[in-house]
Amino acid sequence: MTAKKVVLVVGATGNVGPPALSQLLETGAVVRALVTENDPNADRVPAGVEVFHGDLAEPETLRAALDGVDSVFLMWPFFHLSVATAPEVLAMIERAARRVVLVSSVGVHIGLERPDNNCHAYLEELIARTGLEWTSLRTTGFMANALGFAPQIKATGVVRFPFGAAARTAVHEADLAAVAVRALVDDGHAGRAYLVSGPEVMTQEEQVHIIGEVLGRDLGWQDVRAEEARARMVASGWPPSYADGALDYFEQLTKEPEVRSSVVEEITGRPARTFRTWASESADRFR
Ligand SMILES: NC(=O)c1ccc[n+]([C@@H]2O[C@H](COP(=O)([O-])OP(=O)(O)OC[C@H]3O[C@@H](n4cnc5c(N)ncnc54)[C@H](OP(=O)(O)O)[C@@H]3O)[C@@H](O)[C@H]2O)c1
Repeated sequence: MTAKKVVLVVGATGNVGPPALSQLLETGAVVRALVTENDPNADRVPAGVEVFHGDLAEPETLRAALDGVDSVFLMWPFFHLSVATAPEVLAMIERAARRVVLVSSVGVHIGLERPDNNCHAYLEELIARTGLEWTSLRTTGFMANALGFAPQIKATGVVRFPFGAAARTAVHEADLAAVAVRALVDDGHAGRAYLVSGPEVMTQEEQVHIIGEVLGRDLGWQDVRAEEARARMVASGWPPSYADGALDYFEQLTKEPEVRSSVVEEITGRPARTFRTWASESADRFR
């Protein structure tokens, strides 16, 4: 009998972590979640997952979680944490594990992100320098990003944000998780950087209309100047350089739609979920 695989998920209680944990349990792996001490979302970890407390800002605290792991699913919370400790974290992962799967970004795929920006491209470079079997998931934006519109949808029914015509290929978080799970437990994905996207090209404004159809409400969109949105994004915690990068990218997507791939279907054997499916599952969060 072969031993069960031991997989650690880092970034376990965000958008992608919970579906990844559930799907990993279904593979029969021993599943671990790294959870910060006072994580307000700790209840998103499904039953059956082994919880280890640790903090990426203090790499030593990861030691117990890493002891005996085969694979690590790494999501770095760039919004909340600098990458200062990333080299040390990766050195520890390299000592403990054979394989790492990273959630990276479409920004790396299209050359928008440079290694010196201390974001996904930087982490990809660090990982490529290790002896780990690595897989990078260069994902487009999450469907869950539309939750950022929820306060305005609830309050006024009109979303005021720039670049409603930005045409995106947003991915369902559970589909990204499903690709990650295959790369974590199956062979044949080492050294691969996959562009992961949703199945359809859809503008931001179209997303809001679909949410409206699901809610049975007539929702509107009003384009506002990028500077107005930038101020709100920074006030809500976005690092200014990330807000600038996102807004420049959205503007670019009003001229040329975002790239798309069929990686979800190719790797998981199931069609990628549509935005309408996501909106139906998430309807209560807009009510
Ligand atoms: N959203 C997008 O459209 C998009 C696009 C491309 C790539 N990505 C990448 O996708 C990845 C996953 O995103 P996500 O939305 O699921 O998660 P996220 O919001 O980036 O990360 C949240 C997770 O990280 C944990 N975390 C925060 N600080 C930590 C620390 N110091 N030590 C250990 N864990 C810590 C959080 O726990 P707490 O609750 O305790 O803070 C939570 O579990 C990220 O790396 C992101 O850069 C996202």
